[in-house]
Amino acid sequence: MNQEQTNYEWWQEGIIYQIYPRSYQDSNGDGIGDLQGILKRLDYLKELGITAVWLSPIFPSPMADFGYDISDYQGIHPLFGTLSDFDELVNAVHNRGLKLILDLVPNHTSDQHPWFLESRSSRDNPKRDWYIWHDSLPDGGVPNNWLSVFGGPAWEWDEATGQYYYHAFLKEQPDLNWRNPEVQEAMLNVMRFWLEKGVDGFRVDVMWHMIKDKNLRDNPPNPNYQPYMATYDQLLPVYSTDQSEVHELVLQMRQVLDGYDSRLLIGEIYLPINQLVAYYGIDGKGAHLPFNFQLLLLPWDARQIAAAIDQYEGALPESGWPNWVLGNHDQARISSRVGKEQARVAALLLLTLRGTPTIYYGEEIGMRDVPIPFDEIQDPQGLNMPDKNLSRDPARTPMQWSRGLNAGFTEGKPWLRLARDFSRENVERQQDDPYSVLSFYKRLIKLRQQEPALMVGDYIPVYSDAQLIVYIRQLEGHPRFLILLNLSHRPGYFKAKDSSMHGVVKIATVPEWEGNEVNDTISLGGDEGIIVQLSE
Ligand code: GLC
Repeated sequence: MNQEQTNYEWWQEGIIYQIYPRSYQDSNGDGIGDLQGILKRLDYLKELGITAVWLSPIFPSPMADFGYDISDYQGIHPLFGTLSDFDELVNAVHNRGLKLILDLVPNHTSDQHPWFLESRSSRDNPKRDWYIWHDSLPDGGVPNNWLSVFGGPAWEWDEATGQYYYHAFLKEQPDLNWRNPEVQEAMLNVMRFWLEKGVDGFRVDVMWHMIKDKNLRDNPPNPNYQPYMATYDQLLPVYSTDQSEVHELVLQMRQVLDGYDSRLLIGEIYLPINQLVAYYGIDGKGAHLPFNFQLLLLPWDARQIAAAIDQYEGALPESGWPNWVLGNHDQARISSRVGKEQARVAALLLLTLRGTPTIYYGEEIGMRDVPIPFDEIQDPQGLNMPDKNLSRDPARTPMQWSRGLNAGFTEGKPWLRLARDFSRENVERQQDDPYSVLSFYKRLIKLRQQEPALMVGDYIPVYSDAQLIVYIRQLEGHPRFLILLNLSHRPGYFKAKDSSMHGVVKIATVPEWEGNEVNDTISLGGDEGIIVQLSE
């Protein structure tokens, strides 16, 4: 299928880089990153070789969920700058040949958004039906058993108007009623506003939550619930998420985007593969990239990951373009999950699989989760379930730029503390070290972007066992590559079934290997990975 395609969209050929704006670069000493800070780092991003920058929310917000609670969809939070800073950023990004993707949070607003203030002002307010209001049950109880992702019931009682409203996340994040056409139109207009400003696409927050069962039926219990899990996992969210009507909404969003040239629609969706791929839409008219979080969620086990890649490749609809993610602002960082050495193998996997890779800021220097003392926890998910170790702060700490004051992130007090070892682990130091994680990422990105087989070629599984994953990337008329990854700490070898597997090592986690020839039996050390350019 791919070999027939000859023209690719920028987001098929490219690499996405996620910035958590609070933590990237502060420019005014308030300890919180901002747009002017990001502007200063665009040359770094260009040099890294990525294609598109996705910014987590930068809009006005009371920050109950650090910007995922929006009180004005068409402004910029003063902490981050102004609309004119934003215009400057779009231009500067485009001048460097890069793309800019914004976070769109359509499922819920802040409880301080004027829409909600109106909606809760009285039962007969014209915006009452913009949110999900419901009477209490005759016994005074909540309308159903749905739970909030951040702990506790998903219904909040409103004393003034005597009804409950639904919030999938915090009570400060009431869910919009997407069955109401006025809500649909209002949010599509938000998209148009930013598209007119030149943004190249959106990452749509919790896309699979957007519409709920019309009859608000109770969710069934989760038979696999364990006490260490978030309380939300006590139930299976079969009636509160992933309703079939959601696909009509995604189609509407896609149609707005298609009114502009080459814009990108990404969906944040945590679902099993078979449900996930439905978000590509009928005839591919859904999300271009429903985020594929398998590498984030699966145990780091060669057999399971190899099987998941095959399952995903097999489940993709014909026009569906794959994508892969190793980390984001909600999950533990890859270096902390699999260890520093193995994180390089993970990078090699991410950047050689078929499909658009997304890099989370700091991954490229091997940043690890930073332990945040209990009394410094800021994340509401952590604070609401204090006995469960669920805070997302450790993966959101300031970018480590240099050995200088606060790692070069801010001249003030950083909003979250820095890694203890930032004077050793930072961009400045890694930049000039050919053996650093940063140099490794740069070389991987460069090779991927130079070699059509790695960028858009087919994925052909070759071998996997308890330690190794081996595959080929190929595209007719271009050099072919064999990728070998050892996901374990112990040595292992790969013995090719035929003799055509010889070639030259192009990139290796141990760079001393590069340039050497390999033949049909290849031994890999623990935590090693290589890319071999095959001879014809
Ligand atoms: C998404 C965001 C997360 C946020 C939640 C509620 O999962 O990635 O950070 O807390 O939605 O908006």
